[in-house]
Amino acid sequence: MDPISQIHDQVGEPLLQSLVAAFYRRVKTDDVIGPMYPAEDLEGAERRLADFLIYRFGGSPRYLAERGHPRLRMRHFGFVIDARARDRWVELMGAAMEEVGISDAAVPAMREFFVTTAAAMQNHGAGL
Ligand code: HEM
Repeated sequence: MDPISQIHDQVGEPLLQSLVAAFYRRVKTDDVIGPMYPAEDLEGAERRLADFLIYRFGGSPRYLAERGHPRLRMRHFGFVIDARARDRWVELMGAAMEEVGISDAAVPAMREFFVTTAAAMQNHGAGL
């Protein structure tokens, strides 16, 4: 079975929620990617990412019911995402994983998923 879809069972929904909360605490004050996020709806953004990860990692499909098919690349076209923004997203998520104590067993598959997906979201500049 695809290791990505087992992450939810390994990590659990509460820790995935904490992970996304820790990520957005960093996003809020980040000089590179912070300004791209909707300051008036960070709670909504947090819920969308948490629900997406829970679904993608094999948990509740709530994200699909609320947002439909993810079409993530398309949903990111409105933001200019260059290599620097891509790397910053991955860096903040890495720090959030450390903060909440994602288990060593789950870190490699999660990190791999974040790096690959972030690369797919890049839509501007060198290193595409
Ligand atoms: C590469 C750097 C990235 C940047 C700069 C970026 C930026 C953003 C921004 C500004 C939003 C809008 C926030 C909102 O209102 O929901 C967003 C939404 C979202 N992003 Fe990213 N993102 C990046 C990578 C990723 C990655 C790697 C993932 C998944 C692992 C991801 C998953 C999502 C999801 C699920 C949404 C909400 C989509 C929706 O239902 O509307 N993003 N992103």
